[in-house]
Amino acid sequence: AQDKRESLYVLSAWAGKFFVEQLWKSEMGQVIGLNYFKERGYREDIIKKFELGYSPEEWTALVDKAQEAGFHPDYLAASGLAIERDDKSLYDRFRGRVMFPIHNLTGRIIGFGGRTLKTDKKVAKYVNSPESEIYHKSDVLYGLNFAKKAIMEEDNCYLVEGYADVLSVHQAGVENVVSSSGTSLTTGQIKLISRFTKNVTILYDGDEAGIKASLRGTDMLLEEGLNVKVLLFPDGNDPDSYVQTYGATAFKDYVKSHQQDFIFYKTNILLRDANNDPIKRAEVIRDVVESIALIPDEIKVSVFIRECSNLLDIEERILLAELNKIRLNKA
Ligand code: CTP
Ligand code: MN
Ligand code: MN
Ligand code: MN
Ligand code: MN
Repeated sequence: AQDKRESLYVLSAWAGKFFVEQLWKSEMGQVIGLNYFKERGYREDIIKKFELGYSPEEWTALVDKAQEAGFHPDYLAASGLAIERDDKSLYDRFRGRVMFPIHNLTGRIIGFGGRTLKTDKKVAKYVNSPESEIYHKSDVLYGLNFAKKAIMEEDNCYLVEGYADVLSVHQAGVENVVSSSGTSLTTGQIKLISRFTKNVTILYDGDEAGIKASLRGTDMLLEEGLNVKVLLFPDGNDPDSYVQTYGATAFKDYVKSHQQDFIFYKTNILLRDANNDPIKRAEVIRDVVESIALIPDEIKVSVFIRECSNLLDIEERILLAELNKIRLNKA
């Protein structure tokens, strides 16, 4: 099994090189892929650092080359780079896409995300490697290998939604940034972050999906004992579009001035939806206390109960009674 894993690492590294070569050396790679990255505002040093690539728009470009290079078909299928047809023949999973390799903590490639260049809504925007013996999605954060040093230095981790966000934010000089890349945040990913810092700032897309994901993510982070701040970008922007539109300085200023402690964030979001309906307000209070009840540190709990009491203008003892009720029901 160890041999098999090692073979998958070697094949993934080889495929990473193949996609990089296609991007920089092939006609289509340059005209379509490299141009796409440049138009999105990515600098060459970032494209190289993150080993971005291009997969040819052909059925068996990688499969053929890999077999020529001596890789066994079984490994091509096991890595997810190739897909097996009923007749056992193989074809490339990634075709005509710009490629984002996914690295593990030591910087080895374990999977890929491929973005389409088509604007056709019927084509999946991203195709990702499936789970394999070396790629367990729930235990991987995109960009962590490039971010870990900065996360420790800053004692904070920025959590974004996607590949493009990691690249643009990193390029802006904010290197302590990672993404869960489409999957909703998992406990494994949170445990990974907490090896480097206990402070997380969620920077999700400013759409309904981003708001929902931020609330769910907040609860999971709190439960693991992390400190959570949240910030959403305005007008449907995501961190990538914001930094590419307004520049690095504006981005950093925006983050600094708009990040909120989870309790303010959650309360504001929920109150906004409740208008002045007293019954809905009561639900908001319960909902916020539910989040506080997840925090394992009792000193923090009492601080947040006090904040919540001020914010919502409710007596602390009522909030505490609610908190105890929630915890009893869970036990
Ligand atoms: N994602 C995915 N499959 C999709 C859509 C999204 O795996 N069909 C993942 C990708 O990792 C993506 C992340 O979810 O980066 C966030 O999705 P979204 O916000 O829709 O994409 P962006 O990252 O903003 O992509 P882009 O800026 O290239 O449009
Ligand atoms: Mn798994
Ligand atoms: Mn999104
Ligand atoms: Mn985007
Ligand atoms: Mn996005």
